Amino acid sequence: VAARHLFVCTNSRSSGKPACGPRGDALVAAVQIALLERGGGDALVTNCGCLGPCFDGPNAVVYPDGVWYAGLEPDDAAGLADHLAAGRVLTEKLSQRPGPELGSDPGPTDRAGDRAHPERSAERTDDRGADRR
Ligand code: FES
Repeated sequence: VAARHLFVCTNSRSSGKPACGPRGDALVAAVQIALLERGGGDALVTNCGCLGPCFDGPNAVVYPDGVWYAGLEPDDAAGLADHLAAGRVLTEKLSQRPGPELGSDPGPTDRAGDRAHPERSAERTDDRGADRR
């Protein structure tokens, strides 16, 4: 089990709303290099989908610490590697609005589509009933 895990938003969108996208990708690469140079131990860096505060991006969060960062740049990679390897928080990049915002893009894992069509589950129940006859 990794001691710390950095999740960096690399979400892209075409709607015009700000997204971390390629800037997140660049940050992931920079932190991975910084960890290799520093000797990051068992820390992990993973790209992820939208974290919520898109206007403040690129955004990232470190677990299990629950520390949220915003406005990150590749130049912050060494500081993030320090957090991952030694627990030193990069205080100048702490997020002022951590966590998902209400009404934010739910992303591709949203299951609301299933809930919006309860008749589908009723159809499945009917089918099972027909099989038993
Ligand atoms: S697109 Fe990165 S936090 Fe939403």
